[in-house]
Amino acid sequence: MKKKEVAGYMDSKENEKPMLILRDIHKFYGTNEVLKGVSLEVKKGELVTFVGPSGCGKTTLLRLIGGFTDISSGDIILDGQRINDLPPNLRDTRICFQNYALFPHMTVAENVGYGLKINKWPKDKTAARVRELLEMVELEAFGDRMIDKLSGGQQQRVAFARALSLEPKVLLLDEPLSNLDANLRLVMREEIRKLQERLHITTVFVTHDQFEAMAISDRLVVMKDGRIEQVGSPIEIYEKPANEFIAGFVGYVNFMDGRIASIDEKTRDAVIATEYGKIAITLGQDDVKTGDEVLMVIRPESVNILLDCGGNRQNVLCGSLKSYMYAGSIAKCTVTIGDRTMIIDQYNPRDAQHFKHAEQVEVEIPRSVHLLKKKK
Ligand SMILES: Nc1ncnc2c1ncn2[C@@H]1O[C@H](COP(=O)(O)OP(=O)(O)OP(=O)(O)O)[C@@H](O)[C@H]1O
Ligand SMILES: [Mg+2]
Repeated sequence: MKKKEVAGYMDSKENEKPMLILRDIHKFYGTNEVLKGVSLEVKKGELVTFVGPSGCGKTTLLRLIGGFTDISSGDIILDGQRINDLPPNLRDTRICFQNYALFPHMTVAENVGYGLKINKWPKDKTAARVRELLEMVELEAFGDRMIDKLSGGQQQRVAFARALSLEPKVLLLDEPLSNLDANLRLVMREEIRKLQERLHITTVFVTHDQFEAMAISDRLVVMKDGRIEQVGSPIEIYEKPANEFIAGFVGYVNFMDGRIASIDEKTRDAVIATEYGKIAITLGQDDVKTGDEVLMVIRPESVNILLDCGGNRQNVLCGSLKSYMYAGSIAKCTVTIGDRTMIIDQYNPRDAQHFKHAEQVEVEIPRSVHLLKKKK
């Protein structure tokens, strides 16, 4: 999309001020409580993504923010104003639905200018604004086209331009890319992110695609069953998940049981006793202590896999290679260690021909593993 600014968005320097506050939001459908006390602050210009399994309440939350569904209790504060009781058209929010909800009997320009017309903008000002928006999403040549004569990606851009037409304070995007094929999805997510950053528009994004969420967001909000499980940057969520559910939700994870045998308080070096031997790590967290029963969170790409199983080296366990799936830039390995199965991603698999026939392998556990304290 082009580097043309849209008036209004770049003025504010109050980046740290929360643009949107959700305070203890509950939502009942009949007796079914689908949001169970959701609280969050979203800063101006931030892109926050809600992820979570189907039915956990993501769309319901977006609809509440946009005013399309009544809130049962709690507060929604937009730019300092409580908006609980305002109808959608009086809220400074715009929602972009998964199916785009474009008007099929209107042209691209009419779709983009719809909100302006409803708000009684003068014709010449509307035309100029629509031109500006179409340029921004690189559809300036498509103004007179009917919606059904556009590709999926182009329709997505029209929906995006329409949502931005009245310069909402918060943009709400519910699975905006899910109707696109995989390649276009990648392109569009980059475009959305670039435009969002350039316009500095506060955005709440919903997706069930954890990779899309990690790639596009300033912060992720992981939801489960109507509650927020963890809020953090994509790196925090991936590397320091708060619990097993989150660890398993953002990418694959191998778990290994252990007990913290010792912690050197100065260096934060720790030793984990496991049934396969001792693992030395460097603790990157302070919520565990010596004696705690823990689960080690071992990501497939963090493990080194080596041929043979000879010497007795630190953090190296002996395993049997059960499968080796070579796919060019990566090989997916399944290794059993005792009665535990581990999935290992081997990048740049240069020794593939040897691994294909290997039986015994060495598996090197990294020092950087994250620990989850087991509940007693
Ligand atoms: N209008 C409604 N009436 C009754 N129950 C509803 C209504 N809308 C949603 N629900 C229920 O609320 C829960 C949350 O639904 P929601 O659509 O918010 O989930 P979601 O996280 O967006 O899921 P998905 O990833 O499948 O889109 C679900 O159990 C759903 O069945
Ligand atoms: Mg949904």
